[in-house]
Amino acid sequence: MAQVQTETRPMTEEGDHLQIQAIDHLHFYVGNAKQAMYWWWKGFGFKPVAYSGLETGNRQSASYVLESGKIRFVVSAPYGPSHEIAGHHMTHGDGVKTIAIQVKDVEEAWKATTSRGGQSAWAPREEKDEFGVYRTSAIHTYGEVLHVFVDRSGYKGPFAPGYKPLEGYEAQSTGLAAIDHIVGNVQLGKMDYWVNFYHRVMGFRQLQHFDDQDISTEYSALMSKVMENGNGRIKFPINEPAEGKKKSQIEEYLDYYLTPGVQHIAIATGDIIETMTQLKANGIEFLRVPDAYYDLLPERVGDIVKEPLDKINELGILVDRDDEGYLLQVFSRPVQDRPTSFVEVIQRHGSRGFGKGNFKALFEALELEQGRRGNLDN
Ligand code: FE2
Repeated sequence: MAQVQTETRPMTEEGDHLQIQAIDHLHFYVGNAKQAMYWWWKGFGFKPVAYSGLETGNRQSASYVLESGKIRFVVSAPYGPSHEIAGHHMTHGDGVKTIAIQVKDVEEAWKATTSRGGQSAWAPREEKDEFGVYRTSAIHTYGEVLHVFVDRSGYKGPFAPGYKPLEGYEAQSTGLAAIDHIVGNVQLGKMDYWVNFYHRVMGFRQLQHFDDQDISTEYSALMSKVMENGNGRIKFPINEPAEGKKKSQIEEYLDYYLTPGVQHIAIATGDIIETMTQLKANGIEFLRVPDAYYDLLPERVGDIVKEPLDKINELGILVDRDDEGYLLQVFSRPVQDRPTSFVEVIQRHGSRGFGKGNFKALFEALELEQGRRGNLDN
């Protein structure tokens, strides 16, 4: 049984110095923003709410902002080869460039992080339009990912200066409500470096630790540590590959993304049965573990799970329990051509874990797919 170990490590000496409120948005750099918008809109049920592009006077790039519950995604693509996004897309394919975080004071956040060793991406700045003042500053994290600090308290527009509201895009919500956690893949030997970065620079604490004995199949393995902010709303697990007989899923990611980056975005729903029914009807593809998993399920968790086990089986949902409760989760196939980022849908009933009890079954399913891609051999 998975044990949840909380607060295995204290906050930094000064505690939660950033006082982060929440994740503001994720910004994806993609090859075709219009089609990426359609995918999150029609596939995942996000509502397109704002746009920046030629029609709004932006000659450089096209961007759409989409929302579902408390989640905000931005997808952007370049109009020409000299734009920063073009180079990023050529090297990495579609992926998350920015994890933006809401803070009260972007200048303080920038000073607090850069004085603790964070590398600045841009100093505090203000952008203005008729909707007010939008303040940001930014630092680098793993790979080419940025943490942008956002203060939108003085801004009343649909997203940020340069964006105009989008009308007429009705969305059929699938119930995706909030970001539960965002996982980063880093290179072999770099996990502790980034764990320390989140601890020292960002004031996060370590929540839980898995080692390669926990998470291994016959062939491939990973190690993972979970970092959490002061109010517990933001969780960033960090994975690194572990030695195995064959190539690990983290190495496969790094081979295709060509740098550390965001592996998966876990999104919370209040009704995973309803959410998964709609996502599958919309054509979103998910991993399915071997049927034997469901033969053992009544014995493992049957006495506490409220949802009907036949529905859980039919929808390919995974269940894990610990001392505090249980959770339901399911993992999508990669959301772009390269086997890099994917989405997790999760519903928590008390459990604050990450589905450790599912890792073995899940990784076996993952490896089946990795083998089909011809990427299991070292
Ligand atoms: Fe996850």
